Amino acid sequence: MKTYNIARIPGDGIGVDVVNAAWLVLDAVAGRFDFTLSSETFPWSCEYYLEHGVMMPTDGIEQLRPFDAILLGAVGWPARVPDSVSLHGLLLPIRKSFDLYVNARPHRLLKGVEGPLRSTDFDILCIRENTEGEYSGAGGRVHHGTRNEVAVETSIFTRTGVERILRYGFEAAQKRSGKLASVTKSNAQKYSMVFWDEVTDALAAEFPDVRVSRYHVDAVAARFVTNPDTLDVVVASNLFGDILTDLGAAIQGGLGFAASANVNPAGGVPSMFEPVHGSAPDIAGKGIANPLATIWAGALMLDHLGEKQAASALIAAMESVTAQRTALTPDMGGTSSTMDVAEAVTHAL
Ligand code: NAI
Ligand code: MG
Repeated sequence: MKTYNIARIPGDGIGVDVVNAAWLVLDAVAGRFDFTLSSETFPWSCEYYLEHGVMMPTDGIEQLRPFDAILLGAVGWPARVPDSVSLHGLLLPIRKSFDLYVNARPHRLLKGVEGPLRSTDFDILCIRENTEGEYSGAGGRVHHGTRNEVAVETSIFTRTGVERILRYGFEAAQKRSGKLASVTKSNAQKYSMVFWDEVTDALAAEFPDVRVSRYHVDAVAARFVTNPDTLDVVVASNLFGDILTDLGAAIQGGLGFAASANVNPAGGVPSMFEPVHGSAPDIAGKGIANPLATIWAGALMLDHLGEKQAASALIAAMESVTAQRTALTPDMGGTSSTMDVAEAVTHAL
């Protein structure tokens, strides 16, 4: 029987609850589809930081490297550890060290889930560049605290970086409806975004079966709300993708549903799967966090590992639970606990 080794990093707050809940379901789906998920849990979190002075040990990345994938809950405890410390001490080093340059997020309204839009029939896969662009961290400040102070932050777009994310987008479009939206702001940003458009055009010649539309980010943001059904695969830079995927999460019913895959398509390193939401200190310890975002992230993980049937079955089971509207956490208007929902999904499997 095939065995996958998964590194579990529950992290902080509700991260712990949702990873436990997702694991229950993942274990069940593995049993049904004849593979095994073995796992090791890493306690790296803000609590770990308060005890050890680091978010993870210095050889943390090397400890993770042999795994087939990473399932992460959420990291952050702003009351006790600054977010800049927790983010830069764990999540970002993992994304950077393993060159997880694709951040893929599906935005779809599961049956039975109420979204804020009148238009409910949409299925968008957002692909965000995850390593460079506006978040490259290149810049500086001079003349601190004076009237002459200057802050410069430079976006970095490399041919390698732009080409590989767009290529991933074209390939994703080929596997879906053949429609790709390339998002820029090339009217205003005449170097980086015109460059992005040129790379898009060059790749389009290689993928004659994909229909490419170019959108400016402001226009596509409006389209997410007014005509989301006209979008399928959407590729965007780090900053634009960051903002658009929060919009995507909102139209799919909220953070309780939004899942995220940080992927290095070349393989050889573990890709990382997580809910989009954070540690939610306001509901931590209450056992009422919606586990569906993390279960969905688990389905993305199975899909990435090549267990396509198991991934589809998991999503179908999730959707049958939301459609019945019997096991719902408070954010979905119900009174069920995190574990109740996980058990309902397991039962539906
Ligand atoms: P958050 O996503 O933790 O919470 C925002 C709101 O959504 C809260 O009211 C929360 O109760 C609700 N919410 C989030 N997930 C939910 C779920 N599964 N079920 C039901 N309700 C849910 O964002 P916030 O409060 O801005 O950040 C809290 C901490 O999490 C911070 O330290 C932040 O840096 C960190 N964070 C970590 C992320 C990660 O690890 N990838 C992502 C986002 C935030
Ligand atoms: Mg964001």
